[in-house]
Amino acid sequence: MSEFAESRALLRELAGPGDALVVAAPGRVNLIGEHIDYHNLPVMPIAMRRAVRIAYRPCRDSRIRAVAPGYGRREFEWTPSLAMAAPGDWENYLRAAAQAVTGKWGVGPGIDAAVTSDLPAAAGLSSSSALIVGVTLALLRARGVSATFEELMEVLPEGEHFVGTRGGGMDHAASLDSRAGCASLIGFAPLSLRPVPVPAGWAFLVAHTMTTAEKSGAAREQYNVRRAAGYTALVRLGFSDYREVLAAPDPESLAARLDAGAERDSFLHTVTEAMRVGEAVSALERGDAARFGSILNASHASLRDRLRVSTPALDRLTGDAVASGALGARLTGAGFGGCAVVLCRREDVERVRQGLVARYYAQRAGFDPDKHLILAEPGPGALHRDVTE
Ligand code: GLA
Repeated sequence: MSEFAESRALLRELAGPGDALVVAAPGRVNLIGEHIDYHNLPVMPIAMRRAVRIAYRPCRDSRIRAVAPGYGRREFEWTPSLAMAAPGDWENYLRAAAQAVTGKWGVGPGIDAAVTSDLPAAAGLSSSSALIVGVTLALLRARGVSATFEELMEVLPEGEHFVGTRGGGMDHAASLDSRAGCASLIGFAPLSLRPVPVPAGWAFLVAHTMTTAEKSGAAREQYNVRRAAGYTALVRLGFSDYREVLAAPDPESLAARLDAGAERDSFLHTVTEAMRVGEAVSALERGDAARFGSILNASHASLRDRLRVSTPALDRLTGDAVASGALGARLTGAGFGGCAVVLCRREDVERVRQGLVARYYAQRAGFDPDKHLILAEPGPGALHRDVTE
C-alpha cells in the first residue's frame, strides 16, 4: 500500500474525487549539537522515515481547507496578514505556513489538503516543523513554484515564530534537505548542509520517555530562558558571535570570567557542545562508533548538568540504554521530556530494545513499541522525494 493511501482517501472525503499531489515532510532526530543552532553553531540531525504526509489539490479561490485525523477540519481565507487562531489550535500551523509563503511570494491559490502523520507529537522529533514544511511546500507547488532550500529557509524558521516558538533553523533544514542514508551537518549564517554518510553497521533508536514536552507553556518559556542566558553570557564577555569564542585559543577558560550561575553554565554548554559536534563529525567519518557513543553521553551530561533541560525520566532512559548495550545515548530536541537518541551497533539493536523494555518500559502502562521505541533510519528530506508518488 502506498504511504499516501490514507491521505489520498481523506482528501477524497474532504473534496470529492480527483487527482492529488502529495508531499512528505519528515521529522528529525538530532544526533549532536543541542541547543546551539539558535547561536548559529553547526548541528547534525538525521531526517527520519517517519513524516507528515499531505495529499492536496489546488483550489480556484484562496481558501485553505485541511483535515487531519484526530484534529478535525479547518478552513480559512488566505489573506496577506493572517491573525492567529485560538492558542493550541492546529490551524495555527496552517496559518504559519501560509504566512511564511506570503512573506516572499505573496498570497496565492488555496488548497484542499489531507494531512496524516506517523510522527509522535510533542516528542522532540519536530512534528510541528514537519507540518509547516509540508504545508508550505504544498502551497507553493499548488501554484507551480519550486522553491530552493535557501529560499525556503529564509521564510520557514521565521514562519514558525508565528505560532510562538523561537527555535533555530535545524528542524526545517533537516526536514527539507537531508539525504537518505546520511546525517546532515547543518551550518547557519550562511546556511549550509553537508550530508555525512552513516555507516551501515550503526543504528539509531529513538526512545520515548512517555512524558511529553509540550511546546506551548512552561517548556517553551524554559527554552527561551536558556537561549537568552547563552546570549547574555556571550555579550558579557564582549563577543557578538559564538564562532569568535570558538576561534579563541582556549574557549572554555573564558567562562572563568563569568559569575557562577545559569549564564556561565549556558556558555559552557554551548562551547563544549559545539566542540562535540566537530568531534562527532570526524568520528562518523572514521566510522568510530564507540567514540561517537561517548560523545553522545557527554552531550547528555552537559544538557543535564549545565543547561538543565533534562528530566529524571530522560536521565533514567539514557542510563538504561547504555546499561542495555548501547554505545551512547542522550536527550534529543529541546528536552524537558520527549525522546532520547540511542546509538547501537546494528547487531545489538534487538538486545538494546529488549533491555530497554525490561528496564524502562515494563513499568510503564501504555507502552507501544511502534510509537515509543523506533529505529530511525536516515531518510530523505522533502526536497529529495519524488513528488509523483
Ligand atoms: C527545538 C528547536 C530547534 C533546536 C532544539 C534544541 O527543537 O526547534 O531549533 O533549538 O530545540 O537543539
